[in-house]
Amino acid sequence: MDTLIKKIDTEKMSSADFAEAARILRSGGLVAFPTETVYGLGGDATNPEASARIYAAKGRPSDNPLIVHIADVEDLWKICSMEAEEAAGSAEGREDQSELGRNSTDRDVSNNGSKRHIMEMARTLAMRFWPGPLTMILPRGEMIPRQTTGGLDTVAVRFPSHPVAQELIRAAGIPIAAPSANLSGRPSTTKAEHVIEDLNGRVDMIIDGGSSEIGLESTIVDLTCDPALILRPGFISIEELREILPDIGYDKAIISRTFDPNIRPKAPGMKYRHYAPKGDLTIFEGKPEAVVKAINDALRSRKEEGHSVGVMASSEFAGSYECGNIKVLGSRSHEDEIASHLFDVLRQFDADGTEYIFGECFTDGSLGAAIMNRLIKAAGYHIEKV
Ligand code: TXA
Ligand code: MG
Repeated sequence: MDTLIKKIDTEKMSSADFAEAARILRSGGLVAFPTETVYGLGGDATNPEASARIYAAKGRPSDNPLIVHIADVEDLWKICSMEAEEAAGSAEGREDQSELGRNSTDRDVSNNGSKRHIMEMARTLAMRFWPGPLTMILPRGEMIPRQTTGGLDTVAVRFPSHPVAQELIRAAGIPIAAPSANLSGRPSTTKAEHVIEDLNGRVDMIIDGGSSEIGLESTIVDLTCDPALILRPGFISIEELREILPDIGYDKAIISRTFDPNIRPKAPGMKYRHYAPKGDLTIFEGKPEAVVKAINDALRSRKEEGHSVGVMASSEFAGSYECGNIKVLGSRSHEDEIASHLFDVLRQFDADGTEYIFGECFTDGSLGAAIMNRLIKAAGYHIEKV
């Protein structure tokens, strides 16, 4: 198939820029578009055939559910189940929000009382974090077919803040299912060039709206379990979420430094090997000086064996490495820089054909959990403590 590539300048865009993309989406086609986190591969979330096309274009297993994107908070109540809508409506006028964040013992989503509690939490989180890099897992409404949710009775919903994403969703007039716009298993895409590399010829249109600012996928919060859980760490940190949901924790499976086949992550997508560069990536964890020394030892020994080697470095230590293809992610004091360059740098190593890649760890600050989660997956749990 021929893929249309359309550049849209957020400063000068008009509704005419979105007419063709909206037509494609409404007729069941696929359009890749920028969001503030990563590029998404969009299709009509209400159309099972469009969802099937998304899975096929990505080469993604169809048990891995898609996130439904909206551009108006009120659409949330259409996507979640009707009982939940009634519950949320009746909760609207209530002064007492003290129930929020308190541990309730029952969160069986078929029960209306707990559904009301879920929808109250959703409303509060939406008011605080939307539009933005937060995805909420909620009870699925009839409007969204099971093909979109990988067979689950829950649905993931996000209201992105990127102006191109918002205009596209509004122009289409339907909720848009969109996984990250990469081939399954490859690093997510943060530039249109990445999307073209992976999906040209496999989708109807790619909208080039520049680089994604955040560079890591959204924080996913499951509100259907008690206490609520973070299924994927992202730009919105656990500390920020705890201001609203004091008991929220991480899904155990996603913070483990070692792979345990007996612990299944609650987000089906988190069980797959992900983001992996073609080269062999090892992350070194420890004090920065010890990490630099260990990476230099590893560089020397692989180089002596005749392999091409590289380092994913911070700007603070980039000058300390003795040899190899050194790529700077950013400064340790600006972890948002590290986050926004991570996937691009992983792809650059592929383009360079680097065989052995060694990475510093980035555990500090509010983005530490999100960055390390991607690094650990990219390295296939190959972490050396030094
Ligand atoms: O920032 C983002 O979230 C990007 C942009 C495009 O919005 N999207 C994204 O989608 O990262 P994707 O499909 O690459 O990752 C979605 C993750 C997967 O791990 C999937 O298993 C999980 O969300 N997920 C989706 N629906 C779920 C559900 N109902 N229950 C549990 N996990 C769910
Ligand atoms: Mg993805």
